[in-house]
Amino acid sequence: SQAKAYRAALLHCLADPREVGIEQSHEYFEDGLLVVEDGKIAQIGNAADLLATLKADTDLVEYPDALITPGFIDTHIHYPQTGMIASYGEQLLDWLETYTFPTERAFADKNHAGEVAELFLNELLRNGTTTALVFGSVHKASVDAFFEACEKRNLRMIAGKVLMDRNAPDYLTDTAESGYADSKALIERWHGKGRLHYAVTPRFAPTSTPEQLALAGQLFKEYPDLYMHTHLSENRKEIEWVRELFPERKGYLDVYDHHGLIGARSVFAHGVHLCDDECQRLGETGSAVAFCPTSNLFLGSGLFDLEKIEGFGVRVGLGTDVGAGTSFSQLQSLNEAYKVMQLQGKKLDPFKSLYLATLGGARALYLDDKIGNLQPGKDADFVVLDYKATPLISYRLSQATSLQEKLFALTILGDDRAVKETYAAGVSVHRKA
Ligand code: GUN
Ligand code: FE
Repeated sequence: SQAKAYRAALLHCLADPREVGIEQSHEYFEDGLLVVEDGKIAQIGNAADLLATLKADTDLVEYPDALITPGFIDTHIHYPQTGMIASYGEQLLDWLETYTFPTERAFADKNHAGEVAELFLNELLRNGTTTALVFGSVHKASVDAFFEACEKRNLRMIAGKVLMDRNAPDYLTDTAESGYADSKALIERWHGKGRLHYAVTPRFAPTSTPEQLALAGQLFKEYPDLYMHTHLSENRKEIEWVRELFPERKGYLDVYDHHGLIGARSVFAHGVHLCDDECQRLGETGSAVAFCPTSNLFLGSGLFDLEKIEGFGVRVGLGTDVGAGTSFSQLQSLNEAYKVMQLQGKKLDPFKSLYLATLGGARALYLDDKIGNLQPGKDADFVVLDYKATPLISYRLSQATSLQEKLFALTILGDDRAVKETYAAGVSVHRKA
């Protein structure tokens, strides 16, 4: 089929800066060319080298004053919470009771779920996020509505129905058996269909009985390449509550471990208060943690210790955690990630930031053979960042003398306004007005 070529500055990560150093972690083409064919990256390189090799009928699109990067990856977000983002005043457990549960109730209605799913996907794409690991609500229909919306746009997305059979309002609970059966039906319908993947999704340990967690663990093992997605050690009161509910377990992570819910493709949101033994166990099992800075600051949960967790070999992705997170923009997540590090006397290099938002997320999700950078053969999911997004960004970038400086300013000042266009599987899925 017909190829398309995009001429712009190109930047993508090749490896984790902590493994190979900053210089070797990325590849940059000041005047680059990205060639796309059949929804995949066909070639990447210098325009001067590649332009002459293009087939005669190749469409050429030029983006002066722009930087193409891989699409951003959000490793933790709740689509039913779109309408309650920026809700005032509470920390985790009261926030759930006051705002979250009443909001999620409405997702029993599939029409409502479908409308919010469309709005949610528009917002992700406006912000340059092309893949996300997504919580639905407890209702099976919420996940059908979400995947139907994703399928229409040919997006690579991972989602699941919430499992919750205690410590929540009656209108929002399933049972161990119904949760298992509904999840299974959704897996059969959606997992592996196009670019869609299913995640077994117990909300968090306090809202599932041991019976439900055991069935979730069984399900997680029953199908290849399934995900497990939950919350872990976000808030001190939450951790205390888990100790009371599961006195027979060594700690919070051990509740999940005991029920077969850790390992490759297990993704735990937060992990703000993990002890060394828990980090060790997450690392040795190939589990991943989603770092959600805007949420951790908004709910007053605490400061995530990226260096400590990565030191134990744990895979770390970046999450917005909307609606506890305050922005769909991963550039804004990186702005706050930088501040979270600063408050701990640590740095966050902008190339490490880019890694967390792209290839690091792909590795956390075991999708780095498909997404995360612009290597030939990968899905053509990419974003065009606008160096002239706002007068301030334009002026600040004009003062920059290095790529590192430009990238840093974009992660601090940028948001949806910095996203000129977003492509999924080689097709434009958002273009700034
Ligand atoms: N823990 C359990 N449920 C939730 C949720 O919806 N959001 C956050 N941030 N933490 C949780
Ligand atoms: Fe969350």
